[in-house]
Amino acid sequence: MSKITAFLVFLASGLGSASKLPPAFSVPPSDAVDHVNALIGNGGDTPNGSGGMIPSTAPPFAMTRWVAQTQKNYVSVTPYNHTSSSIHGFQGTHQPAIWMGESAQVVVVPGVGEVKSSFEERGLEFNNATKVISPSYYCVELDSGSETIILAEQSATSRVGHLRFTFPISKEAYVLLEATRPTVITSTPTNITYPVGSIAIDPARREITGSNSERQDWIITPTSTAANASHFRGYFCARFDLPFAEWGVVQNGSAVTGATAGDGSLLSGYARFSPGTRTVNVRVGVSFISVDQARRNLDAEIPDDVPLEETARRTRAAWAEKLDRITLEGASEADKEVFYTAFFHSLQYPYEQDEDGFYYSAYDNQVHEGQSYTGYSIWDTFRAEWAWLILFAPERVPAMITSMLQDYQQSGWLPMWKNIVETNIMVGTHADSLIAEAVVKGVKGFDMDLAWEAAYKDATVPPENDGNTTYSDREENVGYEVRAGLSSVYAEKGWVANDVHSESASRTLDYAYDDYALYRLAVALGKPANIVTMLHDRAMTAPFTIFNNATGFMEARDASGAWAGPDEGWTEGDKWAYTFDVVHDIPALALHRGGNASFIRSLDEHFDGGHNDHSNEPSHHIPYLYALAGAASKTQERVREIAQANYNNTPTGLSGNEDCGQMSAWYLFSALGFYPVNPASGEYVVGSPFFDKVTVNLPAVGSPVIRHEQIATGAEIQFEMSEVPEAWGNEQDGETLCLPSWLMLVMRTPPPSMCLEKTSSFPHGRS
Ligand SMILES: *[C@@H]1O[C@H](CO)[C@@H](O)[C@H](O)[C@H]1NC(C)=O
Ligand SMILES: *[C@@H]1O[C@H](CO)[C@@H](O)[C@H](O)[C@H]1NC(C)=O
Ligand SMILES: *[C@@H]1O[C@H](CO)[C@@H](O)[C@H](O)[C@H]1NC(C)=O
Ligand SMILES: *[C@@H]1O[C@H](CO)[C@@H](O)[C@H](O)[C@H]1NC(C)=O
Ligand SMILES: *[C@@H]1O[C@H](CO)[C@@H](O)[C@H](O)[C@H]1NC(C)=O
Ligand SMILES: *[C@@H]1O[C@H](CO)[C@@H](O)[C@H](O)[C@H]1NC(C)=O
Ligand SMILES: *[C@@H]1O[C@H](CO)[C@@H](O)[C@H](O)[C@H]1NC(C)=O
Ligand SMILES: *[C@@H]1O[C@H](CO)[C@@H](O)[C@H](O)[C@H]1NC(C)=O
Ligand SMILES: *[C@@H]1O[C@H](CO)[C@@H](O)[C@H](O)[C@H]1NC(C)=O
Repeated sequence: MSKITAFLVFLASGLGSASKLPPAFSVPPSDAVDHVNALIGNGGDTPNGSGGMIPSTAPPFAMTRWVAQTQKNYVSVTPYNHTSSSIHGFQGTHQPAIWMGESAQVVVVPGVGEVKSSFEERGLEFNNATKVISPSYYCVELDSGSETIILAEQSATSRVGHLRFTFPISKEAYVLLEATRPTVITSTPTNITYPVGSIAIDPARREITGSNSERQDWIITPTSTAANASHFRGYFCARFDLPFAEWGVVQNGSAVTGATAGDGSLLSGYARFSPGTRTVNVRVGVSFISVDQARRNLDAEIPDDVPLEETARRTRAAWAEKLDRITLEGASEADKEVFYTAFFHSLQYPYEQDEDGFYYSAYDNQVHEGQSYTGYSIWDTFRAEWAWLILFAPERVPAMITSMLQDYQQSGWLPMWKNIVETNIMVGTHADSLIAEAVVKGVKGFDMDLAWEAAYKDATVPPENDGNTTYSDREENVGYEVRAGLSSVYAEKGWVANDVHSESASRTLDYAYDDYALYRLAVALGKPANIVTMLHDRAMTAPFTIFNNATGFMEARDASGAWAGPDEGWTEGDKWAYTFDVVHDIPALALHRGGNASFIRSLDEHFDGGHNDHSNEPSHHIPYLYALAGAASKTQERVREIAQANYNNTPTGLSGNEDCGQMSAWYLFSALGFYPVNPASGEYVVGSPFFDKVTVNLPAVGSPVIRHEQIATGAEIQFEMSEVPEAWGNEQDGETLCLPSWLMLVMRTPPPSMCLEKTSSFPHGRS
């Protein structure tokens, strides 16, 4: 089939395997990185059918991730579908999750013969058996016609993509850079718009530069005279290692050979290489600031003459530095793929967007000095992903918080779902929880006074036009949603009125938890007693204002107090899941449900009745509630059942959307044997580890405090597992040892690493 058989030999070691790398790309050695299967979560028949993940190449928290593009991506469609048979270019993407839009992508397309720019025409069939997929290196053979192939190889650093194309002999090879494309801004694929941009070609510098203003989520940006991302633009600077034999600009399918500049929609630029050219390297620096900055990023991260092998080595080393921190014993090959891919997924978002110490803010359209992050799916990630980041990326957490505080200073509010700028997706101001959890866990290095000011505003200032705006999901042309309905919480008896606001019952419960987080923050920062008391009272009373004694379930209420009906007022969940959504006061919830025994029965009914929906976040903490009511063995059993049913090492191996790491964080904590049910408390509830032995080497943390400290500074936790359910943590023998305290207790002696060990294989634990 091919005229470049040498590469087939070279690829032979990777035949048919997603994880087996050619020798040059498997350094440094890392068993953990080799078990990443980046196709996990790419499957499914609907956007919510699996994780919405793509096999992307980039270091942890990279500004731009690179991926072979098999389909046009937009809200609910990612750029890569593992069932596709053609590749239409290699895309530098900023799409953080399947339900969010793309922003300022750039696409690199290799080809031979006549230049083809449109998505449909430029697609090349690929040889599925020869592809190699890893976090640091991707490679595939593309069929370029007449029994010739193009070998395409891809690696990347945070702000620079590195592509290498090996073309067939005696073909007129070219590489095209797509600056602008047709796009869609809603999940309606027929609603096509044409973002504009520019392209410039500089043959002397061997560069093609350009920009575009594509931002698919613009339609849900909160209305604001300043914080409106109106100047948002993505820039790129692509530099080649060979001189151009020919160049040109293509607009809407028409190529103008020799042109060096263009503006507008449907715009690409290309460079052709002299006949006989075999191998072309192109490095693509990206920037949200300027073309010049994109060029500086290129020179800083992948200077001229750095071979692809070196780029891949550095990116692999960055993953190994993280993933090698956990070693598993007693895990099957499939278990390891699930675990390390989850770890890989958990360290991608939020992503860095500062360049050389500066960042563009879409909140005020200015370039500022400092660090910045975007891609905050906080309604999802406050649950466990943030706790995971505090443990495994503590060096980034202060800047991630500072970034949110900058957003607050520039827009007036902390983010809810920041995708370049706020998008108002989901409910609650859970940035309050991120800040409180960090403070409770002793994270330092950000402005605590400003953090308090910003979070306290969430709890006390309603959004604009709160009295007459529904703030429904993806509602357009509204202000910052923040705690929509907060004025009704004040005016009425504690709940968000269902006849005024969407998702009212979920909001009531989420706002109560956020108030609890604020209460913890107020205590930690020594705020006045009246504020502490106000927040505590609201946190503890609000949930039960919507507890319907007659049914035993939470239920939305109108402003008048009338019950709105059991199916009203929920977001991404129902009365079954949300009735368990009082993570900060499980004892009170258990009492409302008739005491521990009755509460445990209600959990059984929830699970046995098929009401637990692990594919969505409101269910994630529920299996751990047994342990808080004295039935620890049931937690262990349910957690393992859920892990079995919802995670595996295939493309459909995530039952729900990854949501910027939350699905994976659930698995990772559960596999280690504990979970942050009430994140702002700093406590973990103990389950049972999945493997015989897990050894964790944590990165150094600044100034950790209680509970978190015992983990963060290293400790040995021994889980002695027995074949039968044990009394420990179970109510029968009156043993009511608080699990988090127990965790604290056994972690007294800190060895250099944390070992989670069990001595036999099945679910029932004792300490
Ligand atoms: C992938 O493509 C297949 C075939 O076209 C389609 O059925 C499936 O829905 C797609 N999956 C995703 C997640 O886009
Ligand atoms: C997935 O989304 C489709 C619409 O795209 C919806 O009909 C279906 O109910 C959703 N399934 C789940 C399990 O949420
Ligand atoms: C290509 O291989 C992957 C596994 O690596 C598989 O999931 C996919 O379905 C295959 N695609 C085609 C078009 O056969
Ligand atoms: C298409 O997008 C425009 C905004 O550009 C919007 O006003 C319109 O409602 C959309 N139409 C459909 C059918 O989604
Ligand atoms: C967006 O903000 C800029 C200033 O940053 C302002 O000039 C422009 O008028 C605003 N646009 C809208 C639609 O509010
Ligand atoms: C592209 O060209 C076609 C004709 O070939 C024309 O119908 C279409 O309007 C053009 N599109 C844009 C966005 O200019
Ligand atoms: C909503 O209320 C604000 C003042 O609270 C008022 O300015 C605005 O006109 C109202 N909008 C509608 C649609 O009633
Ligand atoms: C439920 O009953 C308790 C007393 O058992 C009462 O204090 C509470 O107000 C009732 N809740 C509602 C919403 O009626
Ligand atoms: C419920 O169980 C928990 C955990 O065992 C225990 O701490 C709590 O005291 C129990 N509550 C009651 C009312 O017995």
